[in-house]
Amino acid sequence: MNLRARIVGTGMCVPDRVVTNDDLAKLMDTSDEWIMQRSGIRERRYIDPGTQPADLARKATERALEAAKLETSDIDCIVLATLSSQADFPGTSFFLHEALGTSEIPCFDLRAQCSGFVYSLAVANGFIRSGMYRRVLVVGCEVHSTGIDLSDEGRDVAVLFGDGAGAAILEANDDENDPAGLIEVRLHAQGEFARKLWIEAPASGHTPVRIDHAMIDERRHFPKMEGRFVFKHAVTRMPQVLMETLHAASLKLEDIDLFLFHQANLRINEYVAKELEIPEEKQINNIEKYGNCSAASIPMLLDEAIRAGRLAPGQLFSMTTFGSGFSWSSAVARL
Ligand code: UT7
Repeated sequence: MNLRARIVGTGMCVPDRVVTNDDLAKLMDTSDEWIMQRSGIRERRYIDPGTQPADLARKATERALEAAKLETSDIDCIVLATLSSQADFPGTSFFLHEALGTSEIPCFDLRAQCSGFVYSLAVANGFIRSGMYRRVLVVGCEVHSTGIDLSDEGRDVAVLFGDGAGAAILEANDDENDPAGLIEVRLHAQGEFARKLWIEAPASGHTPVRIDHAMIDERRHFPKMEGRFVFKHAVTRMPQVLMETLHAASLKLEDIDLFLFHQANLRINEYVAKELEIPEEKQINNIEKYGNCSAASIPMLLDEAIRAGRLAPGQLFSMTTFGSGFSWSSAVARL
């Protein structure tokens, strides 16, 4: 029996509050022109006080369940990818578990930053193919707005990120006549560059306490990035891992109906698409509206692609990521 994991429903949720580039220019020395030109981002969403990451994840999940015509009780396991956990511990997945009111099914967070959703798909795929679980909820969920430095000092990173969640329900497909499902997934990491894009504190390795006043004064609790270094690696690794995955699946670039790339910077995706000669009609981006939502970017994009009719049942698509870690990955699937 050839058991595959297929995506039977997707959903997304972003907060209502729109924050434009002009809004950010009131807080720091930046401009709509600089942000648009360097990143292609026009606006992003920020949560309002009181909203929790799990609220976004719950709404995205409910939409995915509705699309799949399933109930919460149909889910056997939850894997949630995030770099911005609702609490230091437990992971956001446990708060989602509470919000959904599920039975005692397992849940856990997976930390692979912007590659987290594709890493989680690989984990869910393993669970399903081994027969351990029949339906796995995979969520990407980020709240960046409460963790970025909205001052001149943090402007290079702050303007890029937004809040959001995306969800997909993976289900075992054992129908020999139905080719829908994940075909190949390839994951990579390079820990030697962990400090090229990271948040240093709070840190369990910092003694005697995880964060102190001096660290806050030095703004060491905000994300730091060597932007050009990250950019260079992204435009190298993404084409590499995409081609590696296609090769493993015995597919060619021309076979793919839609290419989804992580939404870190539109210029990165334009560069990759140009290098691989991917026609414009086979690409989709939503970074202009949401900025970089890290682990949530790919499932949000996937949900928008499906709902906009850009991706239809039977079509082949790829999802390719690069992010902090460094981590990079690609998956190819048939809807
Ligand atoms: O999702 C995780 C993966 N992340 C990424 O893939 C991000 C990769 N990196 C990038 O996307 C780009 O490096 C950035 C968009 C972050 C920056 O673009 P860049 O073309 O590499 O700019 P830069 O960092 O070299 O900075 C150019 C100038 C600098 O000023 P000087 O030194 O030339 O006077 C910066 O201080 O732009 C300045 N700058 C800004 N100016 C206005 C940096 N941030 C801003 C800003 N507004 N927000």
